[in-house]
Amino acid sequence: MQPRRKFVQQMAFSTAAITLGNPLIAAINRQPQKLRLGFIGTGLRGQAHLAMSLNRTDVEVAAICDIDARMLQMAGELIKKSGKTRPQVFTGDPYAYRKMLESAKLDAVVISTPWEWHTPMILDSIAAGQKYIATEVVLGITLEDHWEVVRAAEKSNAQVMMLENACYRRDILAVLNMIRQGLFGEIIHLQGGYQHDLRGVKFNDGVTPYNSGVEFGEKGFSEAKWRTQHSIHRNGDLYPTHDVGPLAMLIDINRGNRFVSLNSFASKARGLHNYIVKKGGADHPNAKQLFKLGDVVTTQLSCANGETIFLQHDTNLPRPYSLGFRVQGTNGIWMNLNNGIYIEGVSKYDHERWDDAAEWFKKYDHPLWKKWGEEATKTGHDGIDFFVLHAFIEAAKRGEPTPMDVYDAAAWSAITPLSESSIALGNETVDFPDFTSGKWMHRPNQFAKGALY
Ligand SMILES: NC(=O)c1ccc[n+]([C@@H]2O[C@H](COP(=O)([O-])OP(=O)(O)OC[C@H]3O[C@@H](n4cnc5c(N)ncnc54)[C@H](O)[C@@H]3O)[C@@H](O)[C@H]2O)c1
Repeated sequence: MQPRRKFVQQMAFSTAAITLGNPLIAAINRQPQKLRLGFIGTGLRGQAHLAMSLNRTDVEVAAICDIDARMLQMAGELIKKSGKTRPQVFTGDPYAYRKMLESAKLDAVVISTPWEWHTPMILDSIAAGQKYIATEVVLGITLEDHWEVVRAAEKSNAQVMMLENACYRRDILAVLNMIRQGLFGEIIHLQGGYQHDLRGVKFNDGVTPYNSGVEFGEKGFSEAKWRTQHSIHRNGDLYPTHDVGPLAMLIDINRGNRFVSLNSFASKARGLHNYIVKKGGADHPNAKQLFKLGDVVTTQLSCANGETIFLQHDTNLPRPYSLGFRVQGTNGIWMNLNNGIYIEGVSKYDHERWDDAAEWFKKYDHPLWKKWGEEATKTGHDGIDFFVLHAFIEAAKRGEPTPMDVYDAAAWSAITPLSESSIALGNETVDFPDFTSGKWMHRPNQFAKGALY
């Protein structure tokens, strides 16, 4: 173990039971040691994490790794602009990251690469002795990938946190606050969806990332280079974690509750083909490409405590962005599309009218947002990017468990292969694996319990 990590962990052990506002915590925050971070993948998402890390005084960007010269150059410009010391750069082949893991003496790793690389990169990080690994969504491709990561993390006592930023949305955390104070009563049903027109992301001109053309694969840039292949070959909810992650935290999944079963339905696939024809013409070679991914994939989940969840994956058709949350309990309901809340006996109006949710959210603003909101809103995705990286870094500095762990990552992300199986089996209901192997019955929900991280 490196001396720095040992120091951080010793401090953490001696302060294990210390809560918010304690001067010792403040002392840890002031400690001069910096967390040595390594970045695998400095594409558009990796650069966002890099920029936030360069902005922090408690982090040293020690090493970066990518295989794409343009992305490395863009990352280099961010580093130069920050005035921070130039990190070691690892590149040259798809496994250059292993050299980084072996030699860069890192305290923690942030992985922001194409989906199919997440599992091998996490497993290699664990094998190299890393104890804090943050990965972008999703955790893996197959169900086996998810099990492998869970088993490896358990065996090596490694913290694997999926950087699910949507869990830190201001409305979601206010709703969490309201649920914990009993306003919605017992939660009965939840809805959400990754409802995001990605046609201009799945295709581009190979230079400009968004809305610039109809190329993909080797001729595409950034996500068009790799993400579109998943729409060609797979039919399921390919991106469930932005919607299910926040909902799971609201109902204590893996912490007194768990997903029990799932089924999925896929509509026909038209949107991506139509986009190519509309933007590139019927004669464009990509107009011949077939896509397996249904334009709208709907998934239902049942939970051990009796809740039902309805998810939608909707990325190929024209539509404004919305995660379409609905949280409904025995006392009331929140829907984010109409920005409405109704709490029986408390709301201003009778049950025919909605309250403006904004008024409720102001009143029940979460302590995390009260403390960090100003700083957070300077970063991407309305501030949620700040919170998720902040949580990972603060947990790693203290040697504490990350607030979202490997069981969360596995359960949320496994919806993809399970939905693919369900659709392939003619919409059969499939059992949901218990990645915690029974530990869900005893684990408390500590997510967002205070204002520290
Ligand atoms: N949470 C969010 O809001 C959010 C937003 C965007 C993307 N993402 C996720 O972030 C991840 C990355 O997406 P992106 O938009 O940055 O894609 P991107 O294509 O812009 O970046 C991926 C990078 O990984 C690099 N890479 C690929 N193989 C590599 C290897 N073997 N070794 C080192 N580097 C390698 C690529 O060269 C590229 O620079 C994905 O999981 C995506 O779903 C999350």
